[in-house]
Amino acid sequence: MRIVMLGPPGAGKGTQAQALSQNLGLCRVSTGDIFREEIRQGSSLGLQAKVYLEGGKLVPDEIVIEIARKRLGEDDCLRGFILDGFPRTVGQARALDISLEGKGISLDKVFDIRVSPEEVARRLGDRRSCARCGAVYHLVYNPPREPETCDLCGGKLYLRDDDRREVVLKRIAVYEEQTRPLEEYYRGRGILTEIDGEKKIEEVTAEIASLLEA
Ligand code: AP5
Repeated sequence: MRIVMLGPPGAGKGTQAQALSQNLGLCRVSTGDIFREEIRQGSSLGLQAKVYLEGGKLVPDEIVIEIARKRLGEDDCLRGFILDGFPRTVGQARALDISLEGKGISLDKVFDIRVSPEEVARRLGDRRSCARCGAVYHLVYNPPREPETCDLCGGKLYLRDDDRREVVLKRIAVYEEQTRPLEEYYRGRGILTEIDGEKKIEEVTAEIASLLEA
């Protein structure tokens, strides 16, 4: 099974991709997580990406496409994957299609998680992410058992730099301009399903699971 999670910042792509990956035993590939890890390590890729992430802009296609191509070629992705935050431009989507076609495979499903800009703002200001394992929490909707501590690994929770209000507004604008066109791209191929992302986390997970079973 090869799945793409589409949706604006804070829609719940990461939350749902993590649940799906656990339930289906498929690898989850988050380009945002890859960039944040490179930034944490201070690699040259991290230094390049930092400027874009901090400004709420997209990392250039040629960099992202190469990273995704390499990651999807790794052993744990061979039996399927869930893409979280990639593709994000029509150029990236075309490159992904070509790369999969070269292997004789294609995407099965694209879930377009829809939420309003007001809900995005509520979610991102109170999101906390684990510095060690990347698990995601929300102070109100999905709180950790202990304040500032990850339930899964005990790592410290932090507020992402790009979750500051002014950067969130920029990310929403970039989504509308550069990523929204992917809805038509995938609708035209008959693999796009819209999901109401404003329901509770478990309800969204259950809806996606039942769509996959059907
Ligand atoms: P990335 O890390 O991919 O960020 P994003 O797409 O903006 O998405 P988020 O991680 O903010 O949100 P999400 O939809 O995963 O929501 P989450 O599940 O965390 O990318 C960051 C940056 O990296 C980009 O800006 C860009 O610079 C660069 N980048 C990455 N990929 C790129 C690419 N392909 N091309 C170019 N550049 C790229 O949920 C949010 C919060 O809400 C959490 O607190 C969660 O607990 C809560 N929540 C989730 N679902 C619900 C619900 N149903 N009800 C209530 N609360 C909920």
